[in-house]
Amino acid sequence: MTIITCIEDLRRLAQRRVPRMFYDYADSGSWTESTYRANASDFQTIKLRQRVAVNLENRSLASSMVGQPVAMPVALAPTGLTGMQHADGEILAARAAEKFGIPFTLSTMSICSIEDIAAHTTAPFWFQLYVMKDREFINRLIDRAKAARCGALVLTLDLQVLGQRHKDLRNGLSAPPRLTIPNLINMASKPRWCLGMLGTRRRGFGNIVGHASSVSDMSSLSAWTNQQFDLSLSWRDVEWIKQRWGGKLIIKGIMDAEDARLAVASGADALIVSNHGGRQLDGAQSSIGALPAIVDAVGTQIEVHMDGGIRSGQDVIKALALGAKGVYIGRPFLYGLGAMGEQGVSKCLDIIRNELDLTMAFCGLRDVADVDRKILLPGTY
Ligand code: FNR
Repeated sequence: MTIITCIEDLRRLAQRRVPRMFYDYADSGSWTESTYRANASDFQTIKLRQRVAVNLENRSLASSMVGQPVAMPVALAPTGLTGMQHADGEILAARAAEKFGIPFTLSTMSICSIEDIAAHTTAPFWFQLYVMKDREFINRLIDRAKAARCGALVLTLDLQVLGQRHKDLRNGLSAPPRLTIPNLINMASKPRWCLGMLGTRRRGFGNIVGHASSVSDMSSLSAWTNQQFDLSLSWRDVEWIKQRWGGKLIIKGIMDAEDARLAVASGADALIVSNHGGRQLDGAQSSIGALPAIVDAVGTQIEVHMDGGIRSGQDVIKALALGAKGVYIGRPFLYGLGAMGEQGVSKCLDIIRNELDLTMAFCGLRDVADVDRKILLPGTY
């Protein structure tokens, strides 16, 4: 039996169990992957201050994100093709998130649809939207998210153009995978994954069926992206979407204090400091590196969230200490899903929750609301 004690264990198991093209899709960044690596490694230089002989009884991780209660300030990030890491992946991840009392965010580019998630969960989930030229299509997606009672709209602004990931091109990434001889040989060594896929009908892009039924492989996806994603996008469009949606709006993909001020002016409820997990602008700063300046610029006016490179509860507490009201994890839950389905996502969340709780205690705190820069060693952030 494989013993799982940390996120790295889940990553290794996922690598064994998920077909190469989908494992690589998750575990990669754009071009040289320098930003992808920096997202995780920049957490390591930040040092925590250990405190002792403090009352550590009755600790609490409960908090809120955009005014909604969360059992800990950690959400699942929107990730495309999640239903290819494991059959019905988005449904399984949403169920695990619900069990842990945290938000699940469904990507526009998911395999399971908005309606699939609504039918299999009871807690409100969040929906992530890309801005596409076809405003009627955006209108329909917003209406579907409203009908599903989504608790927030996460509007991703950092994908007007698509960063190149070498591995996806080399692997001929497609959903469902094309049955070439190398793919068949690779899939033959992943029997659990294959059995799961045989048992589900959800194998295409659930939210864009009918709109782009021809999108299956990476080259048709990037052609569709180039054709559909709006190169003329402006903050006026963001204001229009906010008005059309009418609920909580979270702007994703802010890496610059100037853009953070524009996000505040757009009337958004929160922004996410994010470089798309190092999958877009290679050479950009890490998210944790960008966080303090953005918190200093707008932290009193808007909720600042962050994602990118979080692989432990220690990383979560460092982001909170630098002013994030909440964080999102992407790859860690994808590894859990690929490794063990819903149980693997639960394992991932259990690991992060325990590490966060114990690290908070080592820093001498009992309530996550009290985490601030004082728990960090000056000069290390
Ligand atoms: C993503 N991300 C992403 N973001 C988004 O807004 N819409 C999307 O469809 C996707 N798709 C996607 C697929 C995969 C496989 C990954 C790994 C990431 C970015 C995601 O929401 C988040 O910003 C990063 O994953 C955070 O970094 P970590 O936690 O993966 O290091």
